[in-house]
Amino acid sequence: MAAPTALIFLTLLVGVSSSGSTDCSYQSLLHHLNLTGSSNVQSIMRPVKNWTTSTLVQLDILLFGILDVDEKSQTVTNHLWVSMYWTNELLTWNASDFCGINLLTIPRSMLWIPDIIIQEDASDSGSVIKGPHLTLNSSGWVFSKAQQRLTYTCQLNLVKFPFDTQSCNITFTSMSSDVHTMKLGTLTNDTALTALSELIMITKGEWSLRSMEVVRDRTTNGTKSYLIYMITLERKPMLYVVNFIIPLSYLLVLDLASFFISQSSGEKLSFKVTILLSISVLLLILQDMLPSTEDSLPWIATYCVAIFALVGISVLEAMLVSFLTELGHQCGKKAKGSENAREDIQLEEDFHKEPSGDEERGQVTPEKTYMPLDWPVAHDLLKRILDEVKAARLQAGSKDKDKNERGCCKSLALTVDYVFFFLYLITVVLFLMIVYVSWIKTGF
Ligand SMILES: *[C@@H]1O[C@H](CO)[C@@H](O)[C@H](O)[C@H]1NC(C)=O
Ligand SMILES: *[C@@H]1O[C@H](CO)[C@@H](O)[C@H](O)[C@H]1NC(C)=O
Ligand SMILES: *[C@@H]1O[C@H](CO)[C@@H](O)[C@H](O)[C@H]1NC(C)=O
Ligand SMILES: *[C@@H]1O[C@H](CO)[C@@H](O)[C@H](O)[C@H]1NC(C)=O
Ligand SMILES: *[C@@H]1O[C@H](CO)[C@@H](O)[C@H](O)[C@H]1NC(C)=O
Ligand SMILES: *[C@@H]1O[C@H](CO)[C@@H](O)[C@H](O)[C@H]1NC(C)=O
Ligand SMILES: *[C@@H]1O[C@H](CO)[C@@H](O)[C@H](O)[C@H]1NC(C)=O
Repeated sequence: MAAPTALIFLTLLVGVSSSGSTDCSYQSLLHHLNLTGSSNVQSIMRPVKNWTTSTLVQLDILLFGILDVDEKSQTVTNHLWVSMYWTNELLTWNASDFCGINLLTIPRSMLWIPDIIIQEDASDSGSVIKGPHLTLNSSGWVFSKAQQRLTYTCQLNLVKFPFDTQSCNITFTSMSSDVHTMKLGTLTNDTALTALSELIMITKGEWSLRSMEVVRDRTTNGTKSYLIYMITLERKPMLYVVNFIIPLSYLLVLDLASFFISQSSGEKLSFKVTILLSISVLLLILQDMLPSTEDSLPWIATYCVAIFALVGISVLEAMLVSFLTELGHQCGKKAKGSENAREDIQLEEDFHKEPSGDEERGQVTPEKTYMPLDWPVAHDLLKRILDEVKAARLQAGSKDKDKNERGCCKSLALTVDYVFFFLYLITVVLFLMIVYVSWIKTGF
């Protein structure tokens, strides 16, 4: 009786122990995969059974944010997630042997990881946050994820700034392996990636993502395999339009309008110079924004400089007109001066004739009040009045002549002003049209 029970107990024990060998812990799986030992064979060599087999590494990127585009240093800073997939032929298991364990997460240091770099990378070290674990499924497929604040160089084309779109390449390649050992590819369709990126994008700033394309196979001459993501960004120009382009054109219009300020007030020239100063302030701001490359002058710089030049020319013209007007005045004053001298002589004559008269003319008028009382003087006075009238007529005549002289100068100034205004208006209109057609319209 004891023997059979012992036998039954034994068989039960064996059964339990056999079922214990298929236990449901990760440790048993690790034991099975020979990952528990101190040997790091798995982490140093490429995990293929036949060395001639190449490893296909698949890369997907997702754009989480466009943090900065630096025109001066020609760099773009993006926030991305890079997902990397490859197969490890040595780490496979049958999930039904391990309670259906299908996925395993293990530390990065335990496995071989492809040495993928980004060629355009210009970021500081430490800007990459790699997930501490790799995910592994039962058919040996490994998945790694890294979050990266990537600053990369990009040749920015600023000719149409701020109505520009920029295409930048992010080139992935292996640092050490050639095309026979490692091939690069994508897993997800790039249009899907673009749509997803647009959906999850958090920071955009003044840019929006237009597209993210995979430029396929630049596998040049058996050296290396490349995967190029071409990222096209589009600038939102509104801020620059409101802050820069509209104020500038407004200043130009103000300058045009200043032709209607009257010449005599003297305000015109100082107003124009003020406009010139405002434009030079805007030019300073522009200098901060754009790099000083010489190969292609941005339209915005041309625009600024042209407006500056136009206003500068109009200031010069205002100076010329003011000079001509001044010349006219001067002529007039000179003529007037000689007239005064003549009048003085006349008065002096009168004074000699009439010793009782005072030197100052102010005294002459009170004398007139004595006129009816002093009859003998009346004759002299009459004569004097006649002389005065004569003198006045003479003066009037010379004034007319002087007026003609001055009018000549003045009309020259006016003509110059009108002709210049006409030419200036035509130039400004033509200039604005050219700017609109070749810059703003094509930019959109
Ligand atoms: C683990 O190592 C043993 C012997 O050391 C070997 O028989 C077995 O095939 C290895 N398992 C794996 C999955 O490589
Ligand atoms: C390794 O791969 C090469 C080429 O694919 C093949 O010729 C060779 O037979 C393979 N070796 C083994 C042991 O499978
Ligand atoms: C996994 O194991 C089950 C039973 O042990 C077996 O039926 C199945 O064919 C195995 N699958 C593979 C891929 O070896
Ligand atoms: C492992 O993941 C790859 C890629 O998603 C998939 O094709 C494969 O079927 C998975 N294997 C298992 C056993 O689930
Ligand atoms: C990006 O790569 C493509 C294909 O090699 C090339 O045509 C394009 O000029 C590159 N763009 C930049 C900005 O380097
Ligand atoms: C990606 O998907 C779009 C439609 O969703 C398709 O037109 C395009 O051919 C696909 N591209 C690739 C490389 O499969
Ligand atoms: C690859 O380079 C070699 C010399 O390095 C040259 O002879 C050959 O034509 C090149 N092949 C291609 C496809 O460019």
